[in-house]
Amino acid sequence: MESLVIRGNAFTAQDQYHVQNLTDCLVCIDPDGWVDRVLLPADRDYSRVLTAARQHHQLRELAQGEYLLPGFVDLHVHAPQWPQAGLALDRPLADWLNVYTFPLEARFSDCSFARKVYADFVRTLLAHGTTTAMMFGTIHVDANLVLVDECQQQGLRGYVGQVTMDNPDQTPDYYRDHSVKEALTASERFIQRVQAIPDPNDLVTPVITPRFVPSCTDAALAGLGRLAAKYDLPIQSHVSESNWESQYTIDRFGMHDAEVLDHFGLLTPRAVMAHGTQLTTGDMELLKQHQTTIAHCPISNIYFGNGVLPVQRLLKMGNKVGLGSDISGGYTPSLYHNIRQAVKSSRMLTDGVDSRRPAEQRGVANSQITAATAFYLATAGGAQALHLAAGRIAAGYRADLQVVQAHRTWGRSSAADVFERLMYQTETADIKGVYVNGRLVYEN
Ligand code: GUN
Ligand code: FE
Repeated sequence: MESLVIRGNAFTAQDQYHVQNLTDCLVCIDPDGWVDRVLLPADRDYSRVLTAARQHHQLRELAQGEYLLPGFVDLHVHAPQWPQAGLALDRPLADWLNVYTFPLEARFSDCSFARKVYADFVRTLLAHGTTTAMMFGTIHVDANLVLVDECQQQGLRGYVGQVTMDNPDQTPDYYRDHSVKEALTASERFIQRVQAIPDPNDLVTPVITPRFVPSCTDAALAGLGRLAAKYDLPIQSHVSESNWESQYTIDRFGMHDAEVLDHFGLLTPRAVMAHGTQLTTGDMELLKQHQTTIAHCPISNIYFGNGVLPVQRLLKMGNKVGLGSDISGGYTPSLYHNIRQAVKSSRMLTDGVDSRRPAEQRGVANSQITAATAFYLATAGGAQALHLAAGRIAAGYRADLQVVQAHRTWGRSSAADVFERLMYQTETADIKGVYVNGRLVYEN
């Protein structure tokens, strides 16, 4: 028996390249927040279910021009950096971290500051159609628990990481785990505190979070690998994200980032590594072998990445890829804007950018992706990374959904046209409602 039925036109990823269009469907949601079936007008039960839902006041009928989409999965985002989103993007990565980011994150030793920022941030993610986020917190257990609490109170599905950064060479005195033991104890305490919270709808999950290779000592990386195995938890970090960062790892270890992460047990099927713009083909193979997902952060990469992630090649190779906003390496929490940038960056990778070179030598042929592929990354691809039955509108998946208003259609448009314009033109004000686990958590 359903507790909510949503009637209208819907789009959901069919695979990495195709979008399925569900015309005038009934999305039937059970009391536990799962989609138990999706009915089309030709289905035998359609009119009976529609009538019953109407009678029991359990029906939401989408208005003219509204569409139902899966909620987005933001696979890589730094919650404490929300106050500086859109700032300091002219600085290179190491500078940006030391001058702006570390001083801001250090302020989360103050839980009342954390509460103010995290309450606003979680609400903002929901307002942008994001229903699941894999987030970095800070090194402060108490502030990270505030973020967990905001996820639960507001209904965002949150994967929350206690950040580890204990390498005195690469972190400032005022913002560092002061020993390996302190770092690992804090991570374990955070895990146990989160796991002790009653959570019937699986809204929050703790995540093992080495900030990135430069920030961590060898002993901390090894300890986090052991913790991830002990508690069978997801892992998040950054991998080969810029020229400076990849060279740092080569100089310290004589290996690439991916190989170092592998050495310490940090490449697993539940690991998500952000950026990867400097990965070699061998690194990509290694990530694939471990079924580790790459979080593509196309806006952030423009500023810090020194290159474009070859998404099309990775998908063809069989690597797992999702999409991230990387607040505040990226300036917007909107995955719509990141979908657009993913497509645009892929076009520039294909064509190349230096017009002094002959056209056929300028770019990397066949690198372009479509809006449908970028939408897959933002929905089904992200959910797959988290082993989460979400990111699609189908029976057996969580009812994590968004209702969006299309812009003017100028008469007759095909479903494919409507979908493409939704990807390119949806702004925050067009997101009319957001459901997580079948519960309306945002309305506009
Ligand atoms: N590498 C290490 N820390 C960070 C961070 O906060 N943001 C980004 N984009 N890259 C990082
Ligand atoms: Fe990041």
